[in-house]
Amino acid sequence: MKLNAIGLNQETSKSLSKDLNELLANFQQYYLNLRGIHWNIRGKRFFDLHEKFEELYVDANLKVDEVAERVLTLGGVPYHTFQDYSSNAKVPVGKNVTKDEDAIRLIVDSLKELLIIERKILDASDDAKDEGTNSMMSDFITEQEKTVWMMKAWLAEEI
Ligand SMILES: [Fe+2]
Repeated sequence: MKLNAIGLNQETSKSLSKDLNELLANFQQYYLNLRGIHWNIRGKRFFDLHEKFEELYVDANLKVDEVAERVLTLGGVPYHTFQDYSSNAKVPVGKNVTKDEDAIRLIVDSLKELLIIERKILDASDDAKDEGTNSMMSDFITEQEKTVWMMKAWLAEEI
């Protein structure tokens, strides 16, 4: 078993970096969804939602960078083209979303996809004893689950 510079199995790390690239592509689509609803939201709740969506995309942008840099730390190359993002993302594409409920639902649906990928990486990084990736996933999951709860509360729906 060959270890890399951070003392992890080189092959396992490469495999995790691939999974993180999948997460990166999905995060970029989530980010674009948030930009779209920040710009296009209409109606009586414009001011608070416009601001809320900005808060979320600023946070998503930071996480995109964290994920990309983890890919590099594990010896991979982070996806950095629209082509790679669009061909690898499963997060729904939000286009011309203007209604508040549709916008919130788009966030919930996007986060669900991210959470599924993150839990897969959480398991794989646990097996690989890759604490750096594991704790990152753990933090993302906790935060996003709370966001989903709040969005579902806004929708007045069961989680
Ligand atoms: Fe803006």
